[in-house]
Amino acid sequence: MNTIDWKSLPFGYVKTDYNVRSYFKNGQWSPLEVSSDENLNIHMASTCLHYGQEAFEGMKAFRGKDGKIRLFRPDENGKRLELSAKGVMMQPVPIDLFVEACKKVIKLNERFVPPYGEGASLYLRPMLIGVGPQVGVKASAEYMFVVFATPVGPYFKEGFKPIKVQIVRDFDRAAPLGTGLFKVGGNYASSLVAIDRGHKEGFSSVLFLDAKEKKYIDEAGPANFFGIKNNTYVTPDSHTILRSITNMSLRDLAADMGMKVETRQVPVEELGTFEEAGACGTAAVISPIGSITDRETGKVYEYCKDGKAGKVCTQFYERLRGIQEGEIDDKFGWNVVV
Ligand code: PLP
Ligand code: COI
Repeated sequence: MNTIDWKSLPFGYVKTDYNVRSYFKNGQWSPLEVSSDENLNIHMASTCLHYGQEAFEGMKAFRGKDGKIRLFRPDENGKRLELSAKGVMMQPVPIDLFVEACKKVIKLNERFVPPYGEGASLYLRPMLIGVGPQVGVKASAEYMFVVFATPVGPYFKEGFKPIKVQIVRDFDRAAPLGTGLFKVGGNYASSLVAIDRGHKEGFSSVLFLDAKEKKYIDEAGPANFFGIKNNTYVTPDSHTILRSITNMSLRDLAADMGMKVETRQVPVEELGTFEEAGACGTAAVISPIGSITDRETGKVYEYCKDGKAGKVCTQFYERLRGIQEGEIDDKFGWNVVV
């Protein structure tokens, strides 16, 4: 059996028992195959290796106090993978196949779903790659869809504690009319150097600005940004931002809690007006932001001056986790019981 210390699990790769795969060839998707091999055998001229025909997803399954396993909004991840696929000219995975693969990989790896109350979950990584050989810049005719699972703990080592974030102006994550809204590997490649430098300078994450004018907040590394003021939930809107399913859910929760919700451009100066700020995402969950430092100007915006998460971030965290772990009524119908 497992000898995993669930409480100290980082957000990293742990080998599990099985992954599932489907292949698109001759115009159709194959039935799901189960594999215990961690490696993929692909052609060296595969388009995913040369021309970035690659997209992925990230989702979590939770074990509740009642012992049931719940997967959070897989249909939304399925829709987003379809959007990403079309964005880089790949064959989309049918949503039914996507959801079936996710459920299957959880069932097959059930012993890796962390027990309730350990602050850990089973992370799913669905991925779609072009595997047909091409040398010219062209889309592949063949694709591979794989879902693997790995148990994870918190993305930021702080857990649910305020993080320090740095505004970077000398890097862009995505071009104004580029691929920022798709979950494709290239966006992450272009963020690596800035994030690594941010870590070395003592920050948990970086805040990218819009690439065109450098005036508006874009994304908080691998998470969306939100700010709270005057009973209002404010989150940036732009073509380059990944449509976070956590953010989408928080907007519903905020409205349900009687808050106003604004999805619009957020100028950098507005950071000084927020009572609370946070980063949200599947991996990041809700990470309260303690401070934001503008690397170029040296200006620091501070939140959580007492070192603790703010009231609204805490309510969001508790409600979201409560729903995901089956302790709060899932009135929006977000969970899929596996
Ligand atoms: N933004 C980026 C760049 C991400 O990689 C992620 C993670 O998926 C998010 C935002 C959050 O999206 P979601 O809440 O759907 O996980
Ligand atoms: C997620 O939140 O699922 C992500 O994909 C973010 C990051 C680990 C890439």
